[in-house]
Amino acid sequence: MTTEKIAPSILSADFNRLGDEVAEVLRGGADYVHVDVMDGIFVPNISIGVPVVESLRRAFPSAFLDVHLMITQPVRYVGAFCRAGASLLTFHVEADTPENITRALAETRACGVKTGLSVKPNTYWQALEPWLAELDMVLVMTVEPGFGGQKFMANQMQKVSALRARLDEINPACDLEVDGGIGPETAPVALQAGANVLVAGSAVFGAADRAAQMQALRNR
Ligand code: DX5
Ligand code: ZN
Repeated sequence: MTTEKIAPSILSADFNRLGDEVAEVLRGGADYVHVDVMDGIFVPNISIGVPVVESLRRAFPSAFLDVHLMITQPVRYVGAFCRAGASLLTFHVEADTPENITRALAETRACGVKTGLSVKPNTYWQALEPWLAELDMVLVMTVEPGFGGQKFMANQMQKVSALRARLDEINPACDLEVDGGIGPETAPVALQAGANVLVAGSAVFGAADRAAQMQALRNR
């Protein structure tokens, strides 16, 4: 069985005081710290990279750093993000050839880091099938990746349910994460469909009381 987890996305944090922002959500009950890495090619935006993961690891030795790589050919950076201190690396299945995805997963695991694979809204879940049995996490995007603050795509819930059913058959301990447009109204929809890890950027960092907001996301 998988348990519900909240993963605030620091994309919506105030980068001028990132350490304080992360400390606050960890104190408030965040299970994972979600780090969105964007290269301006796989997605039309550039965000943060290896040095930020390194700094977070130094400042928060025991935090679970859930690193979401929205970059092309992620296999090129597996070593760097593992050494920087990621707890889990998620790659996009659309970002490289199946051979290189397999390599990226193997290299990550060899570093002792957990692995995740993600699908964009227009990608069928079946694209993940070759790797489903070996993953620690599957990430279903509920917006087009690239930006925080977008509207939740409810039409991705069928994909979430299908993946949960398939994972229950072959990899029941695997986390199923949703990312994009998650807030108090949409969280119950995603949990109901079978997701157990909720990424929330603007909903958490935009709230005056982050701890109360994370509690609200947990309550179906
Ligand atoms: C989008 C990122 C998300 C983003 C979510 O490409 O992967 O993690 O920060 O932001 P919200 O929760 O505001 O939709
Ligand atoms: Zn993300």
